[in-house]
Amino acid sequence: MRKKIVAGNWKMNTTVAEGIELVNQIIAKIEEIPQQVQLIVNTPFTHLFPISKIIGDIKCPNCRSKLALGAQNCADKEKGAYTGEVAAQMLVSLSKAVGTVVGAPADAVGAPVEYVILGHSERRGYYGETNAILLEKIKQALAAGLKVIYCVGEALEDRKAGRHFDVVGEEIKEVLFALGEEDMKKITVAYEPIWAIGTGETATKEQAQEIHAFIRKSLAEKFGALAQQISILYGGSCKPSNAAELFSQPDIDGGLIGGAALKADDFIAIAKSF
Ligand code: PGA
Repeated sequence: MRKKIVAGNWKMNTTVAEGIELVNQIIAKIEEIPQQVQLIVNTPFTHLFPISKIIGDIKCPNCRSKLALGAQNCADKEKGAYTGEVAAQMLVSLSKAVGTVVGAPADAVGAPVEYVILGHSERRGYYGETNAILLEKIKQALAAGLKVIYCVGEALEDRKAGRHFDVVGEEIKEVLFALGEEDMKKITVAYEPIWAIGTGETATKEQAQEIHAFIRKSLAEKFGALAQQISILYGGSCKPSNAAELFSQPDIDGGLIGGAALKADDFIAIAKSF
């Protein structure tokens, strides 16, 4: 069975203290989340270290396994003179450093940074990340041991012109088709129509299902039966009031949540919508 995933994309929101409070509010309600749902918080880089410690400290193993930690970006290079960049290996090294902080028990280990979001339309649009750059980022992330949430999605003009299948097909083929099967097992795809992100406008369940099925069919062309194992998330103004009908579609395996992930109650309500 495919993994059900609800991933929060916090984007460039919250101070570190606010982020800590938000994750504590999520943890306080984590027992309400069905065991088969994987929750992920993808926080800003600055928040990862304290939140790694907080998630690592969750006592009940069932609750602990429900919440994973992720980043929102990583570099397309391994290391070196790239001012301002953060390497995938640095993200992976973070959890082991929790025990080295003054006052922490020597055996303290934080929750690993397990996921990274790559290919988000804000990164493609505002920071010029092309399919070629994204492929390099994905390779770095996978080599370091991260799992990747790879985003695809069309702009409003593309949908109006009936080009949405071409745009999404290209984002899949130019990037994911360059990966091998073992790597593909570490990829979750997120379909996010750009016209629905942060706009309050959501794709209908039929629009979303149609393109999710197309993505799965495209993946099957290259990866065969493995396509049935790959979780494909919907993102774009997903909220408690529309999550259940979206998640009820056969090829929608969860959501990548922006605005609604900044309120613990909404995020938890979405995760209970399967
Ligand atoms: P939104 O953002 O839920 O605020 O529309 C989703 C995303 O960009 O990942």
